Amino acid sequence: MTVENLVQLAQNRRTIYQLGRDSPVPDSKIEELVNAAILNVPSSFNTQSTRIVVLLHAEHEKLWDITTEAFGGLVMSGAVPEEMFKNQTLPKLQGFKKAYGTVLFFEDPSHIKPFKEKFAAFANHFEPWADHSNAMHQYFMWTGLEALGFGANLQHYNPLIDSAVAKEWDLPTEWRLIAQMVFGSPEAAPGEKTQKPIEERVKVFGKQ
Ligand SMILES: Cc1cc2nc3c(=O)[nH]c(=O)nc-3n(C[C@H](O)[C@H](O)[C@H](O)COP(=O)(O)O)c2cc1C
Repeated sequence: MTVENLVQLAQNRRTIYQLGRDSPVPDSKIEELVNAAILNVPSSFNTQSTRIVVLLHAEHEKLWDITTEAFGGLVMSGAVPEEMFKNQTLPKLQGFKKAYGTVLFFEDPSHIKPFKEKFAAFANHFEPWADHSNAMHQYFMWTGLEALGFGANLQHYNPLIDSAVAKEWDLPTEWRLIAQMVFGSPEAAPGEKTQKPIEERVKVFGKQ
């Protein structure tokens, strides 16, 4: 293993919106990848508060039906204009539904609270730190799914869908949904990505 392998994996991870259902691997490989994320991604004070739920096939489709329904409620109440829903949101949600699966990332507050109490001086930091660790799990999964041959994109329909998701899959209601990663067979190349100059974004001092 070399650092070049890592850089290559990082370069391969991109946002892909057009996703299909030709899986390059058996579902057990996806589960192995999730287990590897859970076992190897670090958390502050080793709190291990991240929870991951994988929805495949019909269960994945259900999630995007639930999200569509939740949006329907917003349209009914007037919070979201109907035209916008029809022309923008709905096609996007239908596109996600055509993918292979969705990974849901949560934080379990019951595993953060005892640390807040024990280390009162850091109390305000534990939640942001939990979010950082959660994001590390997301990055691991995003990169790993691409390495398996999938494409993926990251979505945030929380907290709109939190209660319906907890109900549908009988998950603890206190789990906080952080992000949804949609994945499937890549059906289009990633879009153009512009980069701000590295010199603006990196400083190195003391290099010899
Ligand atoms: C923390 C984070 C949140 C994001 N949220 C969304 C999102 O809600 N919806 C979406 O379509 N893309 C989302 N993205 C994708 C970014 O727009 C995308 O990663 C960025 O434009 C760079 O493109 P790339 O992923 O192809 O490198 C998110 C990315 C990150 C890192």
